[in-house]
Amino acid sequence: MKVLMVCLGNICRSPLAHGVLEERVRDGNLGWEVDSCGTSSWHVGEQPDERSIAVAAENGIDISGQRARQFTVADFEVFDHIIAMDSSNFSNIKSLARSENDMEKVSLLLNYSFPSENRQVPDPYYTGGFQYVFDLVAEAIDKFIEEVHGRE
Ligand code: 4NP
Repeated sequence: MKVLMVCLGNICRSPLAHGVLEERVRDGNLGWEVDSCGTSSWHVGEQPDERSIAVAAENGIDISGQRARQFTVADFEVFDHIIAMDSSNFSNIKSLARSENDMEKVSLLLNYSFPSENRQVPDPYYTGGFQYVFDLVAEAIDKFIEEVHGRE
């Protein structure tokens, strides 16, 4: 199983989702591959935002080794699940899908914790609230694992 977490910049939200899922995969010996990226190229090559690094560290997770990259169409060939943090990321990725199969890989993260509500992970870049984002993301990831693992 290969899972890709996607936000806009790949420096705030998706690095947290990447780090949390990676930790759960390691703890549960799931053997899944995890990555993250952004729909924009704005921060390519950068470390996660220092506030994301700090909140992850406060929750026992080291994300400092991550580097931002941009989503590419080739990701549809690599990943089984492509999980967007908000509806803008979701529609940007969907607009690049080449087939029904590509489309079906794309989901909105908080629909795992709040089914069918299409809730967004708020962008904390300008507003802060990184611990709140961490908690939202972690809860949804635990539900995602339950749902997908149950089907494997
Ligand atoms: P992210 O947050 O999409 O969660 O990584 C953002 C990071 C950077 C910007 C916007 C959102 N920016 O405008 O540079």
